[in-house]
Amino acid sequence: MKDVSVGICGLGTVGGGTFNVLTRNAALIAGRAGCNIRITRVASRRNRDDIDLGGVAFSTEIFDVVNDPAVDVVVELIGGYDTARELVLTAIANGKHVVTANKALIAVHGNEIFAAAEKAGVVVAYEAGVAGGIPVMKAIREGLAGNRIDWIAGIINGTGNYILTEMRAGRAFADVLKEAQDLGYAEADPTFDVEGIDAAHKLTILASAGFGVPLQFEKAFTEGISSITPYDIAHAEQLGYRIKHLGIARRRDEGIELRVHPTLVPQSHLIAQVDGVLNAVLVDGDAVGQTMYYGPGAGDEATASAVIADIVDVARIVASGSSLRVPHLGFAPDALEKLDVLSMEDIQSAYYLRITALDRPGVLAKIASILSEHGINIESIMQKESEVQDGRIPVIILTHTVQERQVNRAIAELEALADTDGPVVRIRAENFN
Ligand code: HSE
Repeated sequence: MKDVSVGICGLGTVGGGTFNVLTRNAALIAGRAGCNIRITRVASRRNRDDIDLGGVAFSTEIFDVVNDPAVDVVVELIGGYDTARELVLTAIANGKHVVTANKALIAVHGNEIFAAAEKAGVVVAYEAGVAGGIPVMKAIREGLAGNRIDWIAGIINGTGNYILTEMRAGRAFADVLKEAQDLGYAEADPTFDVEGIDAAHKLTILASAGFGVPLQFEKAFTEGISSITPYDIAHAEQLGYRIKHLGIARRRDEGIELRVHPTLVPQSHLIAQVDGVLNAVLVDGDAVGQTMYYGPGAGDEATASAVIADIVDVARIVASGSSLRVPHLGFAPDALEKLDVLSMEDIQSAYYLRITALDRPGVLAKIASILSEHGINIESIMQKESEVQDGRIPVIILTHTVQERQVNRAIAELEALADTDGPVVRIRAENFN
């Protein structure tokens, strides 16, 4: 069997996991790949005397890996934007294939990186960047190749899902975030998790491969979970819904929706049962219908599983000398469509609205009248006398699907009423139709 040489840059959570699994399962992986995958060089900017590298050459200069002529495949696990970009572009320029778990890098610099890789005839594989250990990119790019994909929706940040799950059980946001960080789930900057930036990176990649459009991260909408209250979690439950932090990409004739925000999902839907650090991605294809991909979205060996699947794909190419490869986004580069990302005013969604109303006659009628004037159909309404405080009562309304522009106008009018107090709380809702 041929040997394929792998150099790993970065020995953090995912780098350590990749080293361990590649070493532990070497014989099994060789059997699958049809070649021996040998880690011949490892680099980490920090000294890692604590890890037994079994004699593999180690350096604190990560560029040693990409400049080593013996390395066939560079595994980039340092994270971040700028140095990672330079590292990957140098590897490509040196004729090396690249495997990365860096969703930020691909979402922001992927168009440039893929163009360089295609010119150089090498592959940049990024399965581990999206939904951790779930092989969802392979499913979209290859398994669903016969479908026109209409929408993709998913829980694609494990840290955020862990926080929302624990908050449902009554725990405080800050405590749970600290725990997720200690468990190695969170990004170096955890605001990427809680404000939806990490999920937007992943959604951008999913949407591009699903719809065949260039990566457009800068146009993705993000809203985080830090303002979700236990009150809204509990009241969504009473309405038969659960609040999840979803990434939603939908293809419309006029453009694509690309948005990450807290979302009410029906408790009866499978996705509502996805708890803790687990992720799930729903993909709707015109031929297959709805499919769901479920599994660990973060963690050392779970993410290593996806990194290694990519290494095996690339090692087969190296060992066989084949020029056959799946295009980076699953579509030939000249087949990508220039569909723009729609503004949030143009998206369509259902809405949970919480209005603080003065507890006096006629207020509900005024609220209903404003919604109706803006073409907003009410699905359910909830108001409990037991919740009256200081003469104010929360009115919770769930709407049918409507254009966000109409809801924005209605909210502005509701907030201007003399019979309401303070801002209207708005959480989008999704029924997956
Ligand atoms: N911080 C990310 C998450 C890691 O929690 O999902 C995996 O991408």
